[in-house]
Amino acid sequence: MNTSRQDKKALWGGRFAAAPDQLVREFTKSVHYDWRLYREDIFGSLAHARMLREIGVISSGEFAAIERGLKQIFAEIEAGVFAWDAAREDVHMNIEAALTARTPAGAKLHTGRSRNDQVATDMRLWVKHSIATDRALITGLQTALVRLARKYQRVIIPGYTHLQRAQPVWFAHHLLAYVEMLARDGARLADARRRADTLPLGAGALAGSTIPLRRERVARLLGFGAVAQNSLDAVSDRDFILEYAAAGAILAVHLSRLAEDLVLWSTAEFGFIRIGDAFTTGSSLMPQKKNPDVAELVRGKSGRVIGNLVALLTLVKGLPMTYNRDLQEDKERLFDTVDTVQQSLAVFTALLAEVRVNAAVCARAVADPLLLATDVADWLVNRGVPFRRAHEVVGQAVAISERRRVPLDRLPLTVWKKLHPVCAAGLRKIFNVRAALSRRKMTGAPGQQQVEAQLRRWEQVLK
Ligand code: ARG
Repeated sequence: MNTSRQDKKALWGGRFAAAPDQLVREFTKSVHYDWRLYREDIFGSLAHARMLREIGVISSGEFAAIERGLKQIFAEIEAGVFAWDAAREDVHMNIEAALTARTPAGAKLHTGRSRNDQVATDMRLWVKHSIATDRALITGLQTALVRLARKYQRVIIPGYTHLQRAQPVWFAHHLLAYVEMLARDGARLADARRRADTLPLGAGALAGSTIPLRRERVARLLGFGAVAQNSLDAVSDRDFILEYAAAGAILAVHLSRLAEDLVLWSTAEFGFIRIGDAFTTGSSLMPQKKNPDVAELVRGKSGRVIGNLVALLTLVKGLPMTYNRDLQEDKERLFDTVDTVQQSLAVFTALLAEVRVNAAVCARAVADPLLLATDVADWLVNRGVPFRRAHEVVGQAVAISERRRVPLDRLPLTVWKKLHPVCAAGLRKIFNVRAALSRRKMTGAPGQQQVEAQLRRWEQVLK
């Protein structure tokens, strides 16, 4: 690219005698990704221009020309015909230059404004908008989970700790655990949105402006709930992005855990579910294979979302006040978090509608009498045996049943009686899974009524 003086002046004004080196242009440009801020950038400029007219910095005619120009540019970008110019560095310079080429009034738009408060404003608008979309997608995934839970509400599966069968739970109870996690993810995003809802514009490069800008007016026009109270903080604060990235990372980790359950459950070893063909893939070599790639990718992509959070924290940690160009690096990480999380939520919502539960396999898995060993200990406790002693008695019974290769529920009463004198015929009635679940009556427990009440509550909330 040539380095004529004219080029340089066009970009940076009178101060410069030479255009930037080609390497520098390549290295510093961001328009190839920050073009995604065009909507927020144009809305922000429209509000700023309206306010400039109201305080008499531009005339009504100039405002009309600016508004017309910006709306044209917006339409061209939406239609995919706007000519982005990498030599103009970023989205802000591209749009302003295109505007000024259309109307001389464009040269007044940047009055009292810096790209520093401009980009911070654009990013806050963008984050607020993304959070609204995220929350709708979260509700969609919760709805899919509740539907699946309702559909298979009579299925019981083993609950696991250490990935070892532990105690029986309703399949619905397991799915509702994710509904709870997602509710907290939504609440975290809503909370982050409240702090993103502050207008930086008017902070200028860092020290405001001598022009009597009406910041509250711009905030109202753009739908911000508050105006930043410190100009230095306004241009350099990115913790609204850190919070978003953190909430996104936690959400991605939750999706990754759900992915892992789906992967496990769809193995021949578990066999609890089948994922519909449209949401699985085959092998290029092994003709019999049907792989849960979608779930695996959701699990894998959580890595990049976690990475984005770490990258952003690292980016901000050593910055002196106030704006530093380092901050340009926030965009790709933020965009990637938004894209990845939103894609993952959408694909899981669709996938869950294609999950079939194999009730017979689940019933076999849950028929293991060892899952009710704790219930036997509780039975003994109810007859006055101290819990530690009861734990020991049942542990011995389990050892005997393993040694003799007799299932725990078929162990003769005489064996139990030898282990502890309170043992009686009633003890063997413990080994009924449904009865065992209905004994779990506390709030949050996987009893029939409790799970039914939770299903109803969520169906109500998500309606
Ligand atoms: N593209 C820049 C960014 O994203 C805009 C702000 C540039 N400001 C500056 N003083 N160079 O951070």
